[in-house]
Amino acid sequence: MESTSLMRAACYENYGSPEVLKVQEVAVPSCAENDVLVQVKYATVNRTDCAFLRADPFAIRFVAGITKPRSNILGCEFSGDVVKTGKNVTEFSVGDRVFGFKDETDGFGGQAQYISMPVKGMLVKIPEQLTYEQAAPGLEGSHYALNGIRSAAIGKSQQVLVNGGTGAIGSAAVQLMHALGAEVTAVCGTAHMEKVAELGASKVIDYQQDDFTQLDATFDFIFDAVGKSTFGKCKHLLKPKGIYHSTELGPFCQNPLLALITRPMGKKQVHFPIPKNLREDAEYLCSLMQQGLFMPLIDQTFALSDITAAYKYVESGEKIGNVLIDVNA
Ligand SMILES: NC(=O)c1ccc[n+]([C@@H]2O[C@H](COP(=O)([O-])OP(=O)(O)OC[C@H]3O[C@@H](n4cnc5c(N)ncnc54)[C@H](OP(=O)(O)O)[C@@H]3O)[C@@H](O)[C@H]2O)c1
Repeated sequence: MESTSLMRAACYENYGSPEVLKVQEVAVPSCAENDVLVQVKYATVNRTDCAFLRADPFAIRFVAGITKPRSNILGCEFSGDVVKTGKNVTEFSVGDRVFGFKDETDGFGGQAQYISMPVKGMLVKIPEQLTYEQAAPGLEGSHYALNGIRSAAIGKSQQVLVNGGTGAIGSAAVQLMHALGAEVTAVCGTAHMEKVAELGASKVIDYQQDDFTQLDATFDFIFDAVGKSTFGKCKHLLKPKGIYHSTELGPFCQNPLLALITRPMGKKQVHFPIPKNLREDAEYLCSLMQQGLFMPLIDQTFALSDITAAYKYVESGEKIGNVLIDVNA
């Protein structure tokens, strides 16, 4: 594969709504000495992509480019085949089936027919029994979930609550904590209660009928995977040393501030850990997938040519789990 060859990719020149995305022919990325070039089969569209598409929140511009995006192809998750290896690469070979996570730190690029991926990043081989479709959404929601779960040191028999058990992060959080032996209560909409129970929740609360903050129960960990609650509204549900974590900053950016204030006090705490993109986390999540302990929840697949519709669907907040992109359709 020569770097002068062309590929199809969903590109954007300026921040904006999903309409700014255009499927174009662009050069296949070059493969640096510590990279592999992957011929992509499936990518995803997730909330991270949507945030970077619109540069919303505004602070994204300080990372991705002040007036326009420096990387013109989004997509932080992908699965496919290694078609070229850089001269220093020993861990991967041409023909390996792989999946990976590459976010703003390394410039995205999954929503394209080829992606160049540094091997020090979150890149792993697809377990034999898994398909490219199953593997593609394996590392975004799950590694944000793992980030919160690790921070709270969740283990066997702990009582945990996941608000938003159907989202990409929430559906992974339910499965990962169930795999760790925790007793999971999950909150979701009426239509998805059965699905969330199948993921490992022993109790499911329908937010369209009941307000989980009125529960007569206490938890070691409340993980708000959709950022719809606040520490103030959940504090009475926490055990004396219970931990609250939200995937959102919260009103007036209160969650990182509360984390600074509450953690040194050692009582009920807010945690707001900064996610790290670690290869060993990708390997851990892959091993759970291999054992059938974690399987990314998939909503539907869009063709690359329907990329605008895919982003609109993800932005609607109606997806459950993950939305796939077939980059060759
Ligand atoms: N901190 C980070 O680094 C980071 C990274 C990525 C994303 N995020 C943020 O994390 C959040 C979740 O991302 P995601 O991709 O997992 O979201 P998502 O998949 O888009 O979440 C959609 C789900 O939210 C559920 N939901 C909607 N309203 C709800 C409510 N009032 N109570 C409980 N559940 C509700 C819906 O459940 P039903 O269909 O069952 O109604 C739907 O399945 C987003 O706000 C995103 O911006 C944070």
